[in-house]
Amino acid sequence: MVRIRFEPKLMMSRYRLKSLLIAATFSIGGIFSPLASAIAREVRVYSGRHYNTDKLIYKRFSEETGIKVRLFETTGLSLVERLKREGSSSKADLILLVDAARLNNAANAGLLRKYRSEKLDNEVPKEYRDPKHRWYGLTRRVRVIIANPSKVDISKVRTYSDLANPSLKGKVCLRKRNNVYNQSLVADQLVLNGKKATVKWLDGMISNVSQPYFAGDISLARSVAQGVCGVGIVNHYYIARMLAGINGSSDRKLARKIDVITPNPAHVNVSAGGLAKYSKNTKEAIQLLEYLASPEGSRGLAGPTFEHPLRGYGESEILKRFGNFNSDGVTISQLGLNNAKAIRLMSQSGWQ
Ligand SMILES: [Fe+2]
Repeated sequence: MVRIRFEPKLMMSRYRLKSLLIAATFSIGGIFSPLASAIAREVRVYSGRHYNTDKLIYKRFSEETGIKVRLFETTGLSLVERLKREGSSSKADLILLVDAARLNNAANAGLLRKYRSEKLDNEVPKEYRDPKHRWYGLTRRVRVIIANPSKVDISKVRTYSDLANPSLKGKVCLRKRNNVYNQSLVADQLVLNGKKATVKWLDGMISNVSQPYFAGDISLARSVAQGVCGVGIVNHYYIARMLAGINGSSDRKLARKIDVITPNPAHVNVSAGGLAKYSKNTKEAIQLLEYLASPEGSRGLAGPTFEHPLRGYGESEILKRFGNFNSDGVTISQLGLNNAKAIRLMSQSGWQ
């Protein structure tokens, strides 16, 4: 018997609460029987992936294995805090997080249990998994540059370092420093170019910023489309989702005014999974982790969210229009290790 349950986020809008309650009322896979529950195998997933579509791949897993998936959604930061608070009484079996910075945080806090299998070693490329075997990448995302061609000469914007060019004075917009996506980008540049060059890049880029720092990638993208900003940096899937009309028709119209520039090579990050330290359904959690890391699982997670699977590229027409990307080769583990240093440099450069 298949059933997926949702637990409300710690903080949520009234709309979100309503939709979660609806999801909880109409459980997937039919009517729940108490007898079945007594014998059913289950796995409890704490997920920082805020995508409703993930339940489709859990459903497929449940249909194939008979293992029930119970989903608890919280945002990245509160998920780690929640796990710390719950300690050994936590119900989590499998933990899903996005971005190297959060993975590093969870691993350092001792929230993940080491596990290694031939299957995971084969499915997850080395650069996308923890050398200490505490987490494994499942989907990939690219930090891209977006530009409004009526505001900037896009032929001059090819890579992250170009955002420091004085010709972009007053035209660069950035998300706030406390967001992990940019922390990982700065960590990436630190690994690639060293401290001196990274400081120079940050100083130049920050001196080109004139707008207040943004709270999210989507609000930043809207401002680029509206010409309030000339250029910005966002995760690629936000623009893809806007173009697909997932956020409504007005965002679709706005996204059409944006040029997506994928630096070559590009900074690539992941969403990833690991066993919870106090997992009770360990066998089931391993089975789900291995399934999500498989080509079918990774594509199933990445497809509806416009991420890229672990290997190859997303297959939607929108992603094809963005063009393929080449990773700059910095590993997710290196990003995590350089996170604190990156935050320090961002702060010193005046990144708010
Ligand atoms: Fe995101």
